[in-house]
Amino acid sequence: MTAPTRATTRTRTSADLIRAEEPVLAHNYHPLPVVVARAEGTWVEDVEGRRYLDMLAGYSALNFGHRHPALIEAAHRQLDQLTLTSRAFHNDRLAGFAERLAELTGLDMVLPMNTGAEAVESGVKVARKWAYDVKGVPADRATIVVAADNFHGRTTTIVSFSTDETARAGFGPFTPGFRIVPYNDLAALEEAVDETTAAVLIEPIQGEAGVIIPDEGYLAGVRELTRRKGCLFVADEIQSGLGRTGRTLAVEHEDVVPDVLLLGKALGGGIVPVSAVVARREVLGVLRPGEHGSTFGGNPLAAAVGTAVVELLETGEFQRRAAELGVVLRDGLAELVGKGVTGFRARGLWAGVDVDPALGTGREISERLMREGVLVKDTHGSTIRLAPPLTITAEELRSALGALEKVLGETG
Ligand SMILES: Cc1ncc(COP(=O)(O)O)c(C=O)c1O
Repeated sequence: MTAPTRATTRTRTSADLIRAEEPVLAHNYHPLPVVVARAEGTWVEDVEGRRYLDMLAGYSALNFGHRHPALIEAAHRQLDQLTLTSRAFHNDRLAGFAERLAELTGLDMVLPMNTGAEAVESGVKVARKWAYDVKGVPADRATIVVAADNFHGRTTTIVSFSTDETARAGFGPFTPGFRIVPYNDLAALEEAVDETTAAVLIEPIQGEAGVIIPDEGYLAGVRELTRRKGCLFVADEIQSGLGRTGRTLAVEHEDVVPDVLLLGKALGGGIVPVSAVVARREVLGVLRPGEHGSTFGGNPLAAAVGTAVVELLETGEFQRRAAELGVVLRDGLAELVGKGVTGFRARGLWAGVDVDPALGTGREISERLMREGVLVKDTHGSTIRLAPPLTITAEELRSALGALEKVLGETG
């Protein structure tokens, strides 16, 4: 039997490829029925050459659009030099990456990892170690307080403190040591934090929950409370960070600097998985040689792309675009309220849009938008999430909103 040639794989249609996945790929996501073959900037193209405006941007992993020239160039340059050493050796790109990222975030030290979930896991470990070594919590008694409806990833420890039964059912037993309080509720936090608490771990805006923005003062309140009670504030900015909300970090909207910052997604420029725990020296300094590791974390290709990402953010252009175009997004959505949209929450170029359930589920609306050449994704129920690349133009944004208006009008 001969191996399939490039020509035969090329002739498979989108429908063929979706069918081919079924027997060989485990289910995790529930993808829209589109098979992307090429992309540039804000646009993707499927196998048949149909073009779609990408209004999801890889769940914010593509904040700079597809194949941003500066990022592709940095990757190409690094591919020609050195791609991987493991952390058994030093590599010549890592120090610069860590210096630039620490400076961008106003913190001291960086622990490079790969996926978002790994950054969260590492953040949990570091917070616990800090609790034992610095705060003096008795061994194995550390607690971490998290918020209901959180989304921090899919590992067994992370789903241990999820409140989403779909994410948890069948995966126990779970990791102990977490307390769950309602999001946006400082009084509940006050009650849950005690002398065993290593950290409060929250998303400054809850993405998967439907772009839930806490009340003004909540993040500053968490900062004040954690400082007063002597535990760490760990902000998961894996989805909200790196320009998405109109600032480098979402916590900046309340002038808050957390003790520990978790970054991922856009840090890899849509090219390689790059995540990081970024923290004050007092916190990340608790890790000693041999206590943590990752074969790929901080590899030279990741560091080169990550450095190029930080360089793009240092210009401020993307944060500015997100803030300015965020007004176009907000105004456009406000006009759709009462015309199929029942409510929305938006900050920068990020919105959770609640659609009248009578018009369809978020999934159905997403499929109809796909047929109009606009890619979005539902979160829960009848909520869809808009998170286009920050390189989107006002015209493209208006055309996506026009497509949403059309889809809602047709179904109404
Ligand atoms: C806030 C937040 N944390 C963590 C993660 C997990 O990231 P990853 O899928 O790269 O493991 C996500 C992914 O959506 C996220 O939104």
